[in-house]
Amino acid sequence: MFKIRLYDPQQPSDLANMYRICLLTADNGGDASHLYSHPEMIGDFFAAPYCELEPTLAFVLEDSQGVCGYIIGALDTATFNQTMNKTWLPKIRKKYPVSTTPETLSSSEQWLSNLIHTDLELDEDVADYPSHLHIDLLPRAQKQGQGKALMLALWQALKKAGSPAVHLGVSRQNTNAVGFYKTIGFKTIQTYDTVFMMGKKL
Ligand SMILES: CC(C)(COP(=O)(O)OP(=O)(O)OC[C@H]1O[C@@H](n2cnc3c(N)ncnc32)[C@H](O)[C@@H]1OP(=O)(O)O)[C@@H](O)C(=O)NCCC(=O)NCCS
Repeated sequence: MFKIRLYDPQQPSDLANMYRICLLTADNGGDASHLYSHPEMIGDFFAAPYCELEPTLAFVLEDSQGVCGYIIGALDTATFNQTMNKTWLPKIRKKYPVSTTPETLSSSEQWLSNLIHTDLELDEDVADYPSHLHIDLLPRAQKQGQGKALMLALWQALKKAGSPAVHLGVSRQNTNAVGFYKTIGFKTIQTYDTVFMMGKKL
């Protein structure tokens, strides 16, 4: 019923599905459509750059209705951050300029705008976990072992590429994802106000 395959840059619907799924899962795992007036804004930061910069570490999950989930990763976060700062972020800063009326933005849009307009820095706490990842499945694909299957696909690709360990950030409010990550072997590396940084050796 489910199939995992590599993201296909030649298939425009793949990128469109990444954007769609990113938005539909961005509110602590739930639909964030109501939080962003521009539907691509969240995917422009959290999904599309991985597809463009690290396509061999981007996998999609398909069922009979089409793409219903993805996992995306960066092999070396320091290198990925540098490329983001040099090429990707300047591009999307033009698409989403700093608002002259920030009070009209939702708090999620303000948060994301700040991320877009700040250069990425390497978090020293995760230095022993050089790769990082994001995973999102639509509700119809959840709780059937497919999140774990996507993880195994990415872990295998990361290991093959020479990575020793992977990290991720997860909202502390996303208790479902936190439970999932713990069950599949992630340990908490650092606790921030709103986010857990978690890591796993490969
Ligand atoms: C979080 C998410 C990726 C998990 O994927 P999933 O397909 O639902 O999880 P799986 O069915 O593959 O579960 C794998 C294992 O984790 C366990 N698990 C799943 N959810 C769990 C939870 N909330 N608490 C504890 N264990 C959990 C399963 O029981 C299973 O255990 P097993 O291998 O011993 O049988 C998925 O629910 C999702 O995409 N949610 C919405 C988007 C999101 O929150 N993404 C993460 C953003 S940081």
